[in-house]
Amino acid sequence: MGDRLNIVVGITGGIAAYKAATVVRLLVKAGHDVHVVPTESALRFVGAPTLEALSRNPVTTSIFDDVAAVRHVALGQAADLVVIAPATANSLAKLAAGMADDLLGTTVLASRAPLVVAPAMHTEMWSNPATVANVATLRSRGVVVVGPASGELTGGDRGPGRLSEPEEIVAAALAAVVPARGDLPGRDLAGHDLPGRDLAGRHVVVTAGGTREPLDPVRFLGNRSSGRQGVALARAAADRGARVTLVAAHLDADVAQQAPGTGITVVEASTTRSLQEAVTAAARDADVVVMAAAVADYRPERVADAKIKKAGDGADLTLRLVENPDVLRGLVETRRPGQIVVGFAAETAESRDELLALGRAKAERKGADLLVLNTVGWSAGFGTADNDVVVLDASGTEVAAARGSKREVAEAVLDEIVGRLLR
Ligand code: CTP
Repeated sequence: MGDRLNIVVGITGGIAAYKAATVVRLLVKAGHDVHVVPTESALRFVGAPTLEALSRNPVTTSIFDDVAAVRHVALGQAADLVVIAPATANSLAKLAAGMADDLLGTTVLASRAPLVVAPAMHTEMWSNPATVANVATLRSRGVVVVGPASGELTGGDRGPGRLSEPEEIVAAALAAVVPARGDLPGRDLAGHDLPGRDLAGRHVVVTAGGTREPLDPVRFLGNRSSGRQGVALARAAADRGARVTLVAAHLDADVAQQAPGTGITVVEASTTRSLQEAVTAAARDADVVVMAAAVADYRPERVADAKIKKAGDGADLTLRLVENPDVLRGLVETRRPGQIVVGFAAETAESRDELLALGRAKAERKGADLLVLNTVGWSAGFGTADNDVVVLDASGTEVAAARGSKREVAEAVLDEIVGRLLR
C-alpha cells in the first residue's frame, strides 16, 4: 500500500448502513485515516460508538459540533477521497442538487477530492426517472458510482438495488484516488475524468471467443473465432478502471493466457445457451454489455451419449440442427435504463458498400446501441492480430471507424461507449 490517505466515509440512512462498518474497517486496515460522517438517519441503523471504535476518530453529524475548528468545511478540505456508502435515493438527490443541510452535505461541497458513491435502495426507487437523472448528473460531474448490485432486497423482493460488497466499494474508491495523486492518468483533484480512467466504477460485461455445440462426447460444431478482439476489449475496459466480467467461450490458447488480469472476472461458457445464461446474469447490474463472442446460431437437435459411429456403408450422415436463442436480442429487450448494449457483426462482404448494407440491416434488426462491423473471410478477421471496423448506431448510421491492432480497435469502441454513458 502506498500513501496514507485522508478518507471521509459518509453513511446515509438505509438498512445497508451496517455494511458501511466493514467499509470503514477495511480502509483503516489498509492504513488510511478515516473520518466517518453519518447522517442523522444513518445513526438509527448503526451506532456512533461502533463507527468511532472502527475509525478511531470522533463521529459527528451536526454542522454545529466543533464549530471552532470549522469542522463543516475542514473535513472536506482535508479529504483525499470521499466515499458515501450506502447512498440512498434521497442522498443522491441532495448531492445532485448540491444541498448542504447537514455535515455530510457541507463536507462534500467543501471537498475537491474524488467522490465515490455506492447506492442502495429498492429497485423501483433506483429505476425511478428522478433517481436515474440524479445519477446521470453525478456521473457527468465525474462522481464514481459503484453498483448497485442485483439480488435479494430487504422486503424480500429482488432486483438491482443491493449495496455492492464492501470489498468492491473499497477497491473502486481507492482506484478513483490513485490517478488523482499522479500515479496513473485519470481523475484530477476536482474529481474530473481525464482520459484513461473514464470507466471507473462501471461494470462492463464482455463476451469473447467462439461457442462450441456438442454433437457427441468428442465432437462439436464450432467456429474460428480466437477471442482476441473480446479479450482486448476486456483488458482495455479494465485499464480504464471498469470492473469487468469476461464471459469466455472457447479462446485460442495464447488469448486465454491474456484473459486474467486485475479487475477482470472470467466466467467460462461453452455453448450458446450457457453463454446466454452467464451473460444475462452478469448484465443485471452492468453499465455496458459487449457481445463480441461468435455465437452458434444452431445446435444439433440431439447430443449423442456415445461417440457417433461411421455407418460404414457409404451413406451420407445428416445432422438436424435447431435454432439457438438470439442472445443479443434478449439483452436488448431486457436492458436496464442507461445500460449500453453493443453487438458485433462479422460479414463476408465483397465491398465496403455491401458490408455497410448488411450492417445497416443487422443494426436495425438487433436494436443494439452500437454494432461493430467487420469483414471476415478465409484470411480476414478471425485469428488475425489486426482489425478494421466500422461502428454503426441503432439506426444504422456510421458513427466511428477504426483500423489497427485489436487493442486500438477496442479503445475506439470504448470511446464511443463512454460518450454514450455520459449522455
Ligand atoms: N449473436 C447472439 N446470438 C446469436 C447469434 C449472434 O447474441 N444466436 C450476436 C453476436 O454475438 C454478435 C451479433 O449477435 O454480437 C451478430 O452476430 P452475427 O452472427 O453477425 O448475426 P446473426 O444474428 O447470426 O445474423 P446472420 O447469421 O444473419 O448474419
